[in-house]
Amino acid sequence: MNLLIINGPNLNLLGKREPSIYGSETFDDYLSKLSVEFADDSIDYFQSNSEGDIINKIHSEGFSVDGLIINAGAYTHTSVAIADAISAIQSPVIEVHISNVHKREAYRHKSFLSAVCLGVIAGFGLDSYRLAIEAFKKTV
Ligand code: DQA
Repeated sequence: MNLLIINGPNLNLLGKREPSIYGSETFDDYLSKLSVEFADDSIDYFQSNSEGDIINKIHSEGFSVDGLIINAGAYTHTSVAIADAISAIQSPVIEVHISNVHKREAYRHKSFLSAVCLGVIAGFGLDSYRLAIEAFKKTV
């Protein structure tokens, strides 16, 4: 499968950022392991702290990839524009969170993205991304 992972704001700091919540592994290290585990698949990666750049990437890839995995970070809870971009494309999208957002502050319980995604995986640490790939491989 041709898959794309999009990470949103502050996720470039994984490994350094609040390790008690997000762990101490960098995303690059985790991605290398994923690429070995899913050697038959193509897994591209894009990270941006800018809402517009994330939307542009959804537009440019969302008509060609087999699946898009997005952790929009805090934009999950605020961005109608990212939700609209997901609605506009053809590729199926899985929303991912490293932490269990429902165990955290109330403002993290609302997602603008969930209703326009195929499914949501949250709370399994970085393994949430692997579970999303498994879900695509079983369902799409
Ligand atoms: C997050 C949860 C969000 O609430 C937060 O703003 C993030 C990361 C997660 O992966 O657990 O930046 O999406």
